[in-house]
Amino acid sequence: MNELMNHTADMGQAEMFSKAWYNEYFRRAAESPTHSRFCEAVYGRDLCQHGMMDVDEMNFLTTLLKPGEKVLEVGCSNGHITEYLHEKTACDILGLDYADVAIAQAQGRTRDKAATLNFRCVDLIQDELPSGGYDVILAIDSIYFMGDYNKTLAKLNARLRPGGRMIIAAFQAKEESDPDTILLPGHTRMDEALQSLSFRYVQHDFTTNIRNHWLKNYEYSRKLQSEFAAEGNAFLCEARMAENGWFKDHAERETLVRFMYVIEHNVDLMQG
Ligand SMILES: C[S@@+](CC[C@H](N)C(=O)[O-])C[C@H]1O[C@@H](n2cnc3c(N)ncnc32)[C@H](O)[C@@H]1O
Repeated sequence: MNELMNHTADMGQAEMFSKAWYNEYFRRAAESPTHSRFCEAVYGRDLCQHGMMDVDEMNFLTTLLKPGEKVLEVGCSNGHITEYLHEKTACDILGLDYADVAIAQAQGRTRDKAATLNFRCVDLIQDELPSGGYDVILAIDSIYFMGDYNKTLAKLNARLRPGGRMIIAAFQAKEESDPDTILLPGHTRMDEALQSLSFRYVQHDFTTNIRNHWLKNYEYSRKLQSEFAAEGNAFLCEARMAENGWFKDHAERETLVRFMYVIEHNVDLMQG
């Protein structure tokens, strides 16, 4: 699959989206007032985001989580979103990410919540996922980094308790070679993977949100460019610009959609 990775280039020393690159990103972002302003303007709230989920979509997500549920979040970055979800839903959450700088920030900031909010450094491709029978496994714009969708879904499904569910927020873009139907609910690459593995699921449409997101992401990276530079954080601005032109084009051509997939645990897949 990986559209997100295919359209981006190397940046500076570290390859974009590598562990070293994300470490550098979150090391700077956590200390950057301009990054906070950017997130506030683009997402509607500053949670040091690097995905595409705006505050409306996040508030919808909170309605899907019940107090006390055991949640595993994959690709949690420095955990501000995780902490927000923890505060709003009273779930018991473990956040995973391979960016050790981001995980250290999350752990340091939330030490007093460790009874029900924890973070661990895990490489989602190379390492085993923690065992534990989760009620919910949550992936917000991190599924793209885990490799083949079918293998990833089977790997995540295996860590759910019977009756548990996965919640996956992901975009789909249509490239020249793709059929028009790829943008329709039931026909995205995630839909194809889910259907080929006989998952039962529903999908919620956040296409309007993601298109607005990328228009604002493009606009504010340019509006705040000199402020990022004045802080010595041109890297953060360049990181945003490296992807927001591609996404803005897709948003304007209406060849970009987004869904939140809520997927039931598949017992048959465990046995097969
Ligand atoms: C696009 S960001 C999304 C972060 C956050 N969920 C959000 O919405 O703002 C993707 C996240 O996945 C993490 N990630 C990428 N590849 C990973 C891997 N192989 N193992 C663990 N985490 C990974 C990155 O460090 C980053 O925090």
